[in-house]
Amino acid sequence: MSILKILKYPDPRLRKVAEKVSLFDKSLEILSNDMLETMYKENGIGLAATQVDIHKRVVVIDISEERDDPLVFVNPVVTVLDDKSLVPCEEGCLSVPGVNVEVMRPDKVKLNWLDIRGNNHEMHPEGLLTVCIQHEIDHLEGKLIADFLSPLKQSRLKKKATK
Ligand code: NI
Repeated sequence: MSILKILKYPDPRLRKVAEKVSLFDKSLEILSNDMLETMYKENGIGLAATQVDIHKRVVVIDISEERDDPLVFVNPVVTVLDDKSLVPCEEGCLSVPGVNVEVMRPDKVKLNWLDIRGNNHEMHPEGLLTVCIQHEIDHLEGKLIADFLSPLKQSRLKKKATK
């Protein structure tokens, strides 16, 4: 396994839209293991392939306290079941260090994904996992928590990051 380099805001490569995975081979397994190792090393709870400059729809998450419950989501899709039910959460991001941003997200959602062998899965996530998977899918779309800040705060953050 190897540690991958995490892109930092405002790197334009974080804005690329990731492509669906269609090949479920050994390289996908290696990528997801490397992403997990990178996430654990950086003490993150989630990481999208976009953040390590690989523009494929792969996400890893571990929200367990013991850091022993690695989850891999390939081609994850969230369907909002109730767009009026929103909850706030203070989100941080390994690609946007030093800031927490309060983001409102739907909490009644359905999640579909494939595992690294290409098998379909579906669940209704709860709590932190609901927030985390939506944050990571935003990365696959080229979206960052910085985008939820006001234009003034965004320009301050950009100035600080490029100093
Ligand atoms: Ni992030």
